[in-house]
Amino acid sequence: MDQPSMSYIRVFAPATVANVVCGFDVLGFAVDFPGDEVELFLSSEPGVRIRAIDGDDGRLPLDPQKNTVSASVIRYLEKIGRQDLGIEIVLHKQMPVGSGLGSSAASTVAGLFAIHHLLGQPLGVEDMLQLAMEGERLACGQGHADNVAPALLGGFVLIRSYQPLDIVQLPTPTSLTCALLHPHIEIQTRDARKILKPYIPLSDVTMQMGNLAGFISSLYTNNFELMSRSMQDVIIEPVRAILIPEYDALKRLALSAGAIGFGISGSGPSVFALCKDQLVAKHLLEQLKNHLAHQGITSDIYISSINIHGPKILASQPFTPSSK
Ligand code: HSE
Repeated sequence: MDQPSMSYIRVFAPATVANVVCGFDVLGFAVDFPGDEVELFLSSEPGVRIRAIDGDDGRLPLDPQKNTVSASVIRYLEKIGRQDLGIEIVLHKQMPVGSGLGSSAASTVAGLFAIHHLLGQPLGVEDMLQLAMEGERLACGQGHADNVAPALLGGFVLIRSYQPLDIVQLPTPTSLTCALLHPHIEIQTRDARKILKPYIPLSDVTMQMGNLAGFISSLYTNNFELMSRSMQDVIIEPVRAILIPEYDALKRLALSAGAIGFGISGSGPSVFALCKDQLVAKHLLEQLKNHLAHQGITSDIYISSINIHGPKILASQPFTPSSK
C-alpha cells in the first residue's frame, strides 16, 4: 500500500449485547442502534492525534496512547509499518460509557474499520479482531471478544475459543427485535468481574452448557420457544443482579409483557430483552421505564433490530495527491 485510498472517512459502529444470558464471554450480538461514530482525517504531519471527542462529558482520555480509538489506530499503523502517516481523529460518543452496551468496543471498532478502509483494507478480519481485543484490554483491563466481534462482524457471534481465537458467525432470525434499557447508574466491567465466583458447581456448568447449546440451536431453527427456555443463566446473573436496581422486578415485568428472554447486557447496568417484534419491545420498555421512574431511577430506552452488517461507512473522500 503506497497511497491511502481516502483522505477522509466517517464510520458508524454498533452497540452490542455481550453474554446474551447463557454465553458468558463467548456470545454476543450487534444492534442497529445506538452506536458510535468516528471521523478520520489524513494529515501531512506524521502521528495520530485526537482532534475532538463529543458526547462523553469530557470523561474519555485525549492522550492518543490512552484513548482506545487512537491507541487502536496507532497499533494498526504499526502492524502495517505506516507510522509515517498522519491521522487526526474525531470521536462522536452516542452511547453512555460504562453502560454494558459495548460502548468502548463500538468506538474501537469504528476507529479500526475507519483506518482499515482509509488505507485500502491491507489487513484481514483476524488481524482486525486481535487489534480490537487489544483496544478492549486497554478500556476494560481484559481483552474479551464478545463485544468487539459482533460489533465488527454484525449479527450473533460465538467465540468458540480465545486461544487460538476461533470466531463463529451465527444466523439471525428475521423479525427478532432487541429492547434495551439503560438505567442511569454506572458499572465498570472490571468491577462487575471482580465479584464473580472463580469456581462453580459441575451441575451449574451442565445447565449452562445445555442452555447455550439450546440458544444456538434456536438461532438456526427460528425456534423462539427453545430460545426462551434457553435464556437462563445459573452462573453469572445470580451474582450480578444485585448491582442492578429492581433487577428481579424488571425481569418479571419483561417476561410477563411477552419477552422471549431477558437478561443483563454485558456486565450491566443495561438490561435487554429479545422480542418477537417491535410492538412487544415498545410495550415492554414502557413498563420497565415507568417501573424504574416510580423508584426514582431515570433510564434511556432503545428498540433495535439485530445489526447483521457490522460497521457502516457514512461518508468518505477519495485520496488525491493534494489531500495530504
Ligand atoms: N463478557 C464480559 C463480562 C463483558 O460479562 O464481564 C463484555 O466483554
